[in-house]
Amino acid sequence: MSDLTSLETDLLAQIEAASDETALEAIRIAALGKKGSISEQLKLLGSMSPEDRKTIGPIINGLKDKIGDALTARREVLKDAALTARLARETVDITLPLRPNPTSEGRIHPIAQVIDELTAIFADMGFGVAEGPDVETDYYNFTALNFPIGHPAREMHDTFFFNPKEDGSRLLLRTHTSPVQVRTMQAQKPPIRVICPGRTYRCDSDQTHTPMFHQVEGLVIDKTSTIGTLKWVLEEFLKAFFEVPSVEMRFRPSFFPFTEPSYECDIRCDRSGPEIKFGEGNDWLEILGCGMVHPNVLRMSGIDPAEYQGFAFGMGIDRIAMLKYGMNDLRAFFDADVRWIKQYGFRPLEVPTLFGGVSG
Ligand code: DAH
Repeated sequence: MSDLTSLETDLLAQIEAASDETALEAIRIAALGKKGSISEQLKLLGSMSPEDRKTIGPIINGLKDKIGDALTARREVLKDAALTARLARETVDITLPLRPNPTSEGRIHPIAQVIDELTAIFADMGFGVAEGPDVETDYYNFTALNFPIGHPAREMHDTFFFNPKEDGSRLLLRTHTSPVQVRTMQAQKPPIRVICPGRTYRCDSDQTHTPMFHQVEGLVIDKTSTIGTLKWVLEEFLKAFFEVPSVEMRFRPSFFPFTEPSYECDIRCDRSGPEIKFGEGNDWLEILGCGMVHPNVLRMSGIDPAEYQGFAFGMGIDRIAMLKYGMNDLRAFFDADVRWIKQYGFRPLEVPTLFGGVSG
């Protein structure tokens, strides 16, 4: 009897002291499991006299129920305590500002943004995008574009040449995106309508020139495109890009070996205020070179000039980016200064679309 009483006191004390549900479960098994202390007592009933069984049986069963109830009650208490502790631990202050994450911190470089903008505009006019290598051959950069060997125009480009190969030929860093015209004409049959944005290189460096810069080339080859089509395409592009209702263009005769006739295109602007404004004012700003593709260029690329014709244009991307977004030193584009990119960069989700206004 006293054994049972001390067993009860002991078990109740253990249950009270259990600090979590795992500890409580261990106590349950030690008392009520197959080999538990109470189960062992119940097993003894079989070997008792009927009288003893009558008196001791209800006591052991009573103990079993009591311990069972105590376990259940303690389990509830521990469960509640665990939940309260978890709630306290996992509180979130929903009034706190969002922690900065990569999409709110990172910035798109203005050049990448402007390439996306002009791609969106030309894509809307049915242009595809073509690319070519930065390291070019003399053939694609000059010869196939109708620069005769020894022609002074080759010297105008301040070309970065690689060391000559054994056969005397030299690779070079392309000085313009025009070689992509040739590669495209070799690879595609007319009608062709592409823009070719990319990096270009010339040995030159000051406030408005960097040894690496960006150009976008345009090429349209079909049976009917004329200077009129060229002017319309450029006008539509410039209006959409600078986000103005109208632009006035001026075409000055010029010379490029790969176009005939060739022009340089200026747009009317107002530079009297702190910011340049397009479509008004009394200043003119040179913005691009263009012309009708020279028959020699078509012929060298396997296109019959008696059947096909078209136009091309080339524009400095860095320059139009500076004009649109008001930066004044081209070199800062390539300094990788975090403060500059924070000021002039674009948020990653500001994707240019025509319906949103290209610059968002
Ligand atoms: N490739 C010329 C340059 O870098 C720009 C240019 C002028 C491209 C006239 C053209 C063009 O396609 O028709 O100076």
